Amino acid sequence: MQWAARVVARSGPERAADRELRSTMKMASGLTPEETRWISRAVFAYFRWQGWLDGDRPLERRIDQAAGFADTFARKPGFVPDAELMERAVPAWVREAMDVPAEWIRALQAEPRLWLRARPGKGGELAAALGGEPDAVAGPVPDSVEYRGLKDLFRTPSFHKGEFEIQDVASQAVAHCCIAAMPAAEVRWWDVCAGEGGKTLHLADLLAGKGTVMATDRAEWRLDRLQQRLSRARIRGVRWELWDESLPVPGGGEFDGVLVDAPCTGLGTWGRNPHARWTVQPKDVEELVVRQLALLGRAAEAVRPGGRLVYSVCTLTRAETAGAVEAFGKAHADFEPFPFANPFVPDAPASPSHLFWPQVTGGSGMFVAQWRRRES
Ligand SMILES: C[S@@+](CC[C@H](N)C(=O)[O-])C[C@H]1O[C@@H](n2cnc3c(N)ncnc32)[C@H](O)[C@@H]1O
Repeated sequence: MQWAARVVARSGPERAADRELRSTMKMASGLTPEETRWISRAVFAYFRWQGWLDGDRPLERRIDQAAGFADTFARKPGFVPDAELMERAVPAWVREAMDVPAEWIRALQAEPRLWLRARPGKGGELAAALGGEPDAVAGPVPDSVEYRGLKDLFRTPSFHKGEFEIQDVASQAVAHCCIAAMPAAEVRWWDVCAGEGGKTLHLADLLAGKGTVMATDRAEWRLDRLQQRLSRARIRGVRWELWDESLPVPGGGEFDGVLVDAPCTGLGTWGRNPHARWTVQPKDVEELVVRQLALLGRAAEAVRPGGRLVYSVCTLTRAETAGAVEAFGKAHADFEPFPFANPFVPDAPASPSHLFWPQVTGGSGMFVAQWRRRES
């Protein structure tokens, strides 16, 4: 309890709870895996159920209270009515910024699931190597596996052989959207906001050595991490460089596909990252939309005629999703909306944008839009 209380007390607008948890766990030696798991669940339950906690009680009691809510909700989800969930699980400004279905809030209050991405075509093999059902189960997008077991995955032979990445299932859907729009061939992709490489690695894997990916980001430490992941997974065909929108586009432009996985408010990740519900502010939405449009505008310059531009964000606010698409469309008559299939609902009609809700994905929420640059 003392460690959980330490993490909760030290988390704040400048110190995200997940980072605080990681650094506290490094300090706390001698904990068993069960104790570590308990601390992590207690911390996240606290922020997930913060809207119900009695502020007059000492912190340890509130952490206990939150754990009680989490347990009851897991056994009997109906014990909190929809109206109460919608009122207390997220701050009031969210109801102005987006549609708030009760199913989304219910998905937010449940414990998040752990998603793995196997190498292309190897989902079944990976699930079997991790023990098969009920511990490892195939997910809704190709090669995705939900892991429900208790193994320390980082110590498994499969991890060391680069046979999987830990990647949310909604995030996995993005590279499939890119490739569906432009099948693997001798194509050049630019992953503008590559970060630690979640989508870069996936794109390169799906290209199967036929195409190349230029990965850029403005954060050097993230690109360092990307390089480590590339070498563990033995993936080729990826180059990387530091870049932000003040610089010329890399590689001389003329890319067949450009992915802008833009910085965003991250409301789609509030299930596994509940602390952010209480730190993200409406002004963040306004500031990020400006950055998203600036990045999209620079990325658009680098798309060859007939090529694709893909925009993705792990958020659900109107301004950062449909609003950003509308603003980009108004300013770029040389791009036309490009319809593509929804990987979670493959039979649904193709559309130039899709919002993947957490209650549908079983993971985070994500928005993806695509355009094609007109030939002339
Ligand atoms: C949503 S994250 C990318 C996640 C990554 N694509 C993945 O799948 O793992 C957004 C990234 O944008 C980067 N970023 C933010 N502002 C930027 C800018 N102005 N220019 C370039 N990269 C930027 C951040 O450093 C961060 O890595």
